[in-house]
Amino acid sequence: LVKAVILIGGNQKGTRFRPLSLDLPKPLFAVAGFPIIQHHIEACVQIPFLKEIIILGYYGVNEMSQFVGEMVQLYKLNIRYLQEFEPLGTAGGLYHFRDQIRCGNPDYFFVLNGDVCADFPLIEMLEFHQTHREKQQAIVTLMATEATRQQSLIYGCIIENKENNTLEHYVEKPSTFISTLVNCGVYIFSPEVFHQMANVFNKKQMDFYNVENGSSVEREALYLEKEILMPLAGTGKALVYQTLKWWSQLKTPGAAIYANRHYLNLFRERRPERLANSDQPTIIGDVYIHPTANVHPTAVLGPNVSIGAHATISYGTRIKESIVLAHSRVLDHSLVLYSIIGANSEIGCWSRVEGTPCDPNPDKPFAKMENAPLFNDEGRLNPSITILGNNVTIPSEVIVRNSIVLPHKELTRSYNNEIIL
Ligand code: GDD
Repeated sequence: LVKAVILIGGNQKGTRFRPLSLDLPKPLFAVAGFPIIQHHIEACVQIPFLKEIIILGYYGVNEMSQFVGEMVQLYKLNIRYLQEFEPLGTAGGLYHFRDQIRCGNPDYFFVLNGDVCADFPLIEMLEFHQTHREKQQAIVTLMATEATRQQSLIYGCIIENKENNTLEHYVEKPSTFISTLVNCGVYIFSPEVFHQMANVFNKKQMDFYNVENGSSVEREALYLEKEILMPLAGTGKALVYQTLKWWSQLKTPGAAIYANRHYLNLFRERRPERLANSDQPTIIGDVYIHPTANVHPTAVLGPNVSIGAHATISYGTRIKESIVLAHSRVLDHSLVLYSIIGANSEIGCWSRVEGTPCDPNPDKPFAKMENAPLFNDEGRLNPSITILGNNVTIPSEVIVRNSIVLPHKELTRSYNNEIIL
């Protein structure tokens, strides 16, 4: 029996995803037409003998319940959301809810970071864990991928013993170069790992009671990377499974455009029925149109466009490399490029909403998305995709370029390189 846990954090996390995470938990933001973590769920349901998916975070239950209900209906599987009483870190929630994870006696459980996107090779990884575990007595397999030297520093860095695929050395976000092999935030654990978590947890409690006025916040939190993986390095109990498939973090709205393209591309391979296929409207490359969206036959969409539920795409519009969320309206002859149009927004006629692509450097092998800061050293907005928050109105005949518009704004003129508060 196998289970899977998806870590989704909570409201204090996901700040780099603003303004898109202001009205909606980031894990529910639609990429390629489906909420970010639905892509995780779709990968998990393929795993043989998977009996349950637990979504773990500190968002309020009411923020997640509708989504979870829909997922249960759709996949006919036990899918639950468990809420941490405070941010418990990447392993604290696993430990706190250990009985929920252990019940039914799973042989293994997957843990997936909710803020990554990938062509998740979960079945291959499980086979790897099962075969190598017999030889090594391993209690965890980490998924790893190659990054560039410079980018590796923002990830957990791995040194692997190539002879037996064990984790030799692990440093979380090192300050100097360690290795270009990085942690993807996707793991398989055997339940024995809870013993190790218990040791770390109990030591923290002892420390807490031995120190006067100990902080109650850090007392409960546990960190998978520093407190579990690092001590396992060099013991032979952690294995490294390297993937060559597509994988990326999904921290920023720019990364959502990138993920949108890749997930659409995977649909082309595996779920072609999900992609639009017509002459009217004209479809270029991979495009997802929600069945309830209303797209005029004269519109030209693609490549890499997702149109959400009940959106209206009017006469003569052109949309490329963008996500248009539910209930939005793009009116006659408007153009949308490298942008995210928040739910319930409206772009007037003959307007242009345009961002700058921020893809990984195609000339550098293994380059990942740069999580560039919002502002550069001169305090100016770094060129990036244009984002309209929810419920934004853009008048006719204006240009909004490289800008971020907060939710519920009614613009009256053109903007270039600005955050509109
Ligand atoms: N339930 C819960 N509770 N989830 C959490 C919490 C928490 O308190 N804190 C973070 N998470 C979730 C986040 O939502 C995210 O999906 C995942 O755990 C990791 O979050 P971060 O703590 O922001 O770490 P990171 O993304 O900077 O780095 C991690 O992922 C990288 C790959 O994307 C590390 O595991 C790195 O080693 C790894 O390379």
